[in-house]
Amino acid sequence: MKVDRRRALRSLAQLFLASPLLQQQMLRSQGPPKIDPVLEPANIMDFAKLAQEKLDPVAWDYMAEGASDEAALRDARKAFDRIILRPRFLTDVHKIDISIKLFGKTLRHPIFIDPAGGKNCFYPDGENEVAKGAGETDTLMISNGGIEGVVKSGQGPKNWWQFTTGGEFRTENAMLNFVERVEDSGASAISFTVDIMHVSHRERSIHNKFVRSWCDTGVPRDAQGNLIYKEGDEPWRTGGFPSRPFPTPTWDTVRKLRELTDLPIIIKGILTAEDTEMAVLSGMSGVVVSSHGARQLDHVGGTLEALPECVQAAGGKIPVLIDGGFRRGSDVLKALALGASAVGVARPYLWGLCTFGQQGVARVIELLRTELALDMGMAGVAKISDIDRKLVRIRDYTL
Ligand SMILES: Cc1cc2nc3c(=O)[nH]c(=O)nc-3n(C[C@H](O)[C@H](O)[C@H](O)COP(=O)(O)O)c2cc1C
Repeated sequence: MKVDRRRALRSLAQLFLASPLLQQQMLRSQGPPKIDPVLEPANIMDFAKLAQEKLDPVAWDYMAEGASDEAALRDARKAFDRIILRPRFLTDVHKIDISIKLFGKTLRHPIFIDPAGGKNCFYPDGENEVAKGAGETDTLMISNGGIEGVVKSGQGPKNWWQFTTGGEFRTENAMLNFVERVEDSGASAISFTVDIMHVSHRERSIHNKFVRSWCDTGVPRDAQGNLIYKEGDEPWRTGGFPSRPFPTPTWDTVRKLRELTDLPIIIKGILTAEDTEMAVLSGMSGVVVSSHGARQLDHVGGTLEALPECVQAAGGKIPVLIDGGFRRGSDVLKALALGASAVGVARPYLWGLCTFGQQGVARVIELLRTELALDMGMAGVAKISDIDRKLVRIRDYTL
């Protein structure tokens, strides 16, 4: 009976294929159908190529560069190659859940949007455009500020943290004002970046005679394509001995901040077990293992290399987040396996921003989280809490 049905189906298909009408139609097919350009890039690095083609070269350098020798920038990517996945099979992976819980809130996925100054050099009204992309994809965003309007309109992220480098912490009054402003703004946490008390030498920008205020205005050029400098513009230079007019924040500052607010406080820019321990002891809610995108102190290695000691030092008392060089879902998976609770990106969404604005930001996040879910499905883990250290092996070149 079964054989008869199969035979009948086969002869029907043969009859169909022999039809001249069908053959003609197949010949008439004219290349792949057109798709929305934002859906064309197959991965994050495709977005990088598009962004480089589109951006002014000095703006591109400002975004892409690392500090000094850019050794940490290279190391950030190299570190991922040392981690190998150990997939397990025959587990039920028909549904993949990539949601996580962080500071009492459920996040749709463990990828967050890092702060990045200078977004207007990549796209007009960059911060708000990113906030809309974060809203569209339900992504946690650490904002450099000024997104309250978009958030109120319902288009922004539901969950966002206010960034600071501690400029507001010089006096107790200023700190209190800052805390009150942040609490009123609806931010769900404070993210304190601690690795930029002095600004590094970014030598691509120095060679380009880049002016920092172009980060706010965009890069000005005349009709011939020459950079336009106005009176008072100061191109980035080396040579000034570092000093700051005010004492820089310390762990004491952090402890004072802790007393002023119940909001979670996250320290961004940690690279050692010692500072993770200090964060725990100072009542911090979490840390982000980060080298500021390799844009501050150089020669610190890849952040992935610093992650295990920070995770160990945190001892499960506070979550350890990480960023730096994440470009693939598999990169995220590796960090989660090494104990990270969530993973931040900056350049990837900036590439999305400068190519397609809000839509590009959203697409970059969508690509990353889809890759993560797919890799989880292929590695035999159906939910984030099933990911553990056994999912990875550290490549040993001496074998
Ligand atoms: C153009 C640019 C501007 C940045 N500005 C800030 C900033 O204002 N504050 C901050 O904490 N980190 C800043 N960062 C660092 C990012 O928040 C993040 O730590 C890092 O870039 C992540 O690495 P990735 O770019 O490889 O994803 C910036 C990074 C870039 C690329």
